Amino acid sequence: MHLHRVLDTTVPGNPVAEEAVRNVLLGVMDPELGDNIVDLGMVQRIEIDPLGGDVDVTISLTTSGCPLRAQIMKDIKRRVAGLPGVAEVRVHFGEMTTEQKKNVMARARFKARDNALDTDIPATTRIVAIASGKGGVGKSSVTANLAAQLAQRGLTVGVLDADIGGFSIPRMLGVEGRVQGEKDKTGRARFAPLEKPIGSGLLKVMSMGSIEGTGEDQAIMWRGFMLNRAVQHFLEDVAWGDMDYLLIDMPPGTADIQMGLARMLPRTEVVIVTTPTLAAQQVAARAADMARKGYLRVAGVVENMSASVAPDGTRYAVFGAGGGERLAEQLGVPLLGSIPLDPAVAAGGDAGEPAAIATPQSPAAQAFAALAECIVTEAIPLVEMVTCTARQFFKAAGLLNPMHNDKTRSPFP
Ligand SMILES: Nc1ncnc2c1ncn2[C@@H]1O[C@H](COP(=O)(O)OP(=O)(O)OP(=O)(O)O)[C@@H](O)[C@H]1O
Ligand SMILES: [Mg+2]
Repeated sequence: MHLHRVLDTTVPGNPVAEEAVRNVLLGVMDPELGDNIVDLGMVQRIEIDPLGGDVDVTISLTTSGCPLRAQIMKDIKRRVAGLPGVAEVRVHFGEMTTEQKKNVMARARFKARDNALDTDIPATTRIVAIASGKGGVGKSSVTANLAAQLAQRGLTVGVLDADIGGFSIPRMLGVEGRVQGEKDKTGRARFAPLEKPIGSGLLKVMSMGSIEGTGEDQAIMWRGFMLNRAVQHFLEDVAWGDMDYLLIDMPPGTADIQMGLARMLPRTEVVIVTTPTLAAQQVAARAADMARKGYLRVAGVVENMSASVAPDGTRYAVFGAGGGERLAEQLGVPLLGSIPLDPAVAAGGDAGEPAAIATPQSPAAQAFAALAECIVTEAIPLVEMVTCTARQFFKAAGLLNPMHNDKTRSPFP
């Protein structure tokens, strides 16, 4: 039944609800103003063609010539197009009145939503949850290797291990120290994530296994209703600082944490990991359905444990073939990569040096490099940050200097 809903991406006469469109727009950030376009009051109009399913979204910008416009438009299209019942998505831009601009500025400074997360994660960070329907398909291995590969490209990559009870990230990345609490500028205690430089890039890691007094045994106690609180703690009380990507390694089983993330961080995008077998593909479809129920964008599918290729060219499809492709097709999302079954992955995970960098010639490492390339250039591109709207407005209104003197209230750090 779940599967059925996912399949019905365009149902004639069953148009998408305006509320659903608004919900996915919560995931579109104005990186300069530091909040999503809904809470900033930038969404002026949503029009839905009840017959064809076309959606027209009108956005008010502070200045119509904003260079961020192209990125905001792409993000809107990517999110809204993923909703069932949506045909074409068109984005229109208008310019705000002076009064509207003042309101937006006020909202940018004081978080609009009461339940908005008080987090240190920059608005320019792309947040990617690595999820699957069932356990053991390689979520953590994909997270660790993708993170290492992105860092290798010179990026700063956060890794949040949301597998509270069964964390494996510290071991896989070889980051097994314990975190230190430190006070930030406002005097609030925060944990500094554990850091590991890779090439010219940097990993910032936070896991239940990194906190003093939570060995593998004690962590089991966190299972159940505490799970979401623990994830929220990681989001709010960790001094994440600058990051290009934040990868979240999801625990097996989906509902709780995914729904929590959807509420806390609606801009999260989900990558579904599956193995090539039919059964895994069906469970994975359910995970994708769950993500979409929370209005999270499903960015694509990664097939793991795909056929391995022997040096003589023979392919060994131990777990079958084609599951990733079929799932991607069924979900209407791209297949981002296929990672072959490769002993280098398991060995790298045990050694704390992901195969992606420890054995760059291995088939898995090459597949991870291709996956990283696909993510950075296409599927979940880096956020562009050009200042335009707000700064220009402030300058024009003669407000720039006072704002800058009052650092605590300025939306510009
Ligand atoms: N492509 C691969 N080739 C070989 N071994 C792999 C591959 N991917 C994962 N593994 C191995 O499979 C096991 C399970 O992987 P992993 O822990 O990443 O899965 P998971 O989905 O995170 O599991 P869980 O649901 O328990 O969190 C590990 O021992 C890992 O080393
Ligand atoms: Mg795992």
